[in-house]
Amino acid sequence: MKIIHFSDPHAGALPDSLSAYFDKRIVGTLNYAFKRRFLHNMALMQRGVDYIIQEKPDVVVCTGDLTSTGQPREFDIMLEILQPLITNSAIKLLYVPGNHDSYVKNNRCQSASKKAFETLNMNGITLESLPTLVTAGECDFILVNECRPTNFFLSTGYLTTESSKKIEELCSGKKERPRIMIGHFPLRKKYSLTGFRHKIYGQQKVVELLNSQKIDLALCGHTHKCLHDVDKTGRGEVVAASITKTGDLNIIEYNKKADSFKYKQHIVVA
Ligand SMILES: [Fe+2]
Ligand SMILES: [Fe+2]
Repeated sequence: MKIIHFSDPHAGALPDSLSAYFDKRIVGTLNYAFKRRFLHNMALMQRGVDYIIQEKPDVVVCTGDLTSTGQPREFDIMLEILQPLITNSAIKLLYVPGNHDSYVKNNRCQSASKKAFETLNMNGITLESLPTLVTAGECDFILVNECRPTNFFLSTGYLTTESSKKIEELCSGKKERPRIMIGHFPLRKKYSLTGFRHKIYGQQKVVELLNSQKIDLALCGHTHKCLHDVDKTGRGEVVAASITKTGDLNIIEYNKKADSFKYKQHIVVA
């Protein structure tokens, strides 16, 4: 079974409403105007989609941060680029939001985030129903939403007690297939003292599930750097780089007979 994993394309756009000048979107917009738009090349995302269509994986996983400030216009850019994957019925597409996709409480932004989630996942699941389990091919995928609007200075994630309990429940029965958790934040990463602004909180129970292999694999993004923290069977945690920064696609092959995961990087060029 083949899975292609990418993360953090960070589409950007100028503010699309007056209210954007009066909340955190102004910080994100300035960050986009002076930094992000020079770092993230959307042509790499286009090439990534072309490559995925050509490779015909069973499942495509996107671990969030489609946008820079969670605005409707930015989601529209991404939905247009990802359209060939959305309409390809042979490929199962799974997406969870990143902190930039749930950037502010503004109703238009929250509705756009929910609409993007439902459009990309294509199977009737809603953002509110997460964590939830989706079986695709030879694996079970646990989709988790770790993101909610934070103040101006934080890019943090949260696994609420309720989410953590639901993930424990989903992992409590006999394991029929490998379980792959899909979230945005690295769970096992050690942060420096100043890392408190970028880390996830409340993940301890889920890390125990990962370490005891009740969860076989955790896929995530957020740091924009690729990292494979896995054992010899490929079990552990895999962080995808930002596709629009590096062109990285993370190719995962699950071999049912050997019951192991193998990894390969593919780098697209603009
Ligand atoms: Fe990101
Ligand atoms: Fe992020």
